[in-house]
Amino acid sequence: MKPTVAPFPAARLRRTRSSQAIRNLVQENTLTPSDFIWPVFVRDGEGQEEPIASMPGVMRRSVDRIAEAAVEAQALGIPAICLFPYTDASLKTEDCAEAWNPDNLTNRAIRAIKAAAPEIAVMTDVALDPYNINGHDGYVVDGEIVNDATVEALVKMTLAQADAGADIIGPSDMMDGRIGAMRTALEKAGHHNVAILSYSAKYASGYYGPFRDAVGASGALKGDKKTYQMDPANSDEALRLIERDLLEGADMVMVKPGIAYLDICHRVKSAFGVPTYAYQVSGEYAMIQAAAQNGWIDGGKVMMESLMAFKRAGCNGILTYFAPDAARLLNG
Ligand code: PBG
Repeated sequence: MKPTVAPFPAARLRRTRSSQAIRNLVQENTLTPSDFIWPVFVRDGEGQEEPIASMPGVMRRSVDRIAEAAVEAQALGIPAICLFPYTDASLKTEDCAEAWNPDNLTNRAIRAIKAAAPEIAVMTDVALDPYNINGHDGYVVDGEIVNDATVEALVKMTLAQADAGADIIGPSDMMDGRIGAMRTALEKAGHHNVAILSYSAKYASGYYGPFRDAVGASGALKGDKKTYQMDPANSDEALRLIERDLLEGADMVMVKPGIAYLDICHRVKSAFGVPTYAYQVSGEYAMIQAAAQNGWIDGGKVMMESLMAFKRAGCNGILTYFAPDAARLLNG
């Protein structure tokens, strides 16, 4: 590329930074509440809001409180909410049947949100880990996470969520062939407008620690998830996964975790130009909150800076626990 900068002093690059008005004019990226998908944790009971120690400011809410949160999110201009269930240990089994129970926590929460805040899109998580006795996203047979039987279970789970009224299905399991199987089943069941936002490039990450506490899976998990989630060393492989999921019918794709994987977000958006999302995961949230609570960083500033970074990298939106706080700040 030819240089576009005149010699000094014709060019003083500080000129376009010299007032807030000019800074606003030359701003290349923007952040608005409509960039956010808000992940929330659902628990049983009524009138319950239980803090999660490793995620300061985040609660496990009972279904009625989730509906209230959705009303609040809708008023703030947040377009979507994503549900994660905290499932009682007594409901975790080897066959994970609670995953497709039409009255499980997620499906009850979907119906409650649809009744209370009909304009907000409801996204779900598809993976067996909240219901699995061993904490894995797939069935475990003789120590192996088996693919094809897991996909069959995930399809049942998907259909139950779509029947309950989910707008966006979010497969986070990283099994092979699941997107195609889900799309086919959704079409067959008449759920033509139920979209799939695939967790296509999901890494085997240390940043998920607080989440596993939040959904009560950390105690249960035996071993690691490296046979299905990606190696943090890889980048070309992410493009193959994204392309594969798009060819199977994914409407939107996700990179997860977020900040440590902005190069992947950028490559994905540049290569495919499809709706691309990043998940600013629990560990990223916890790190910012912990440092802020200690007075080591300005929490609000770092929150906004981290969210803008996703937009700059090319993301269309961000799944973030900061969604309501950031939306409040943006709405002034
Ligand atoms: C599980 C799932 C995980 C997250 C979302 N869905 C954890 C995992 O893969 O172990 C992590 C989200 C976060 O850390 O905020 N299917």
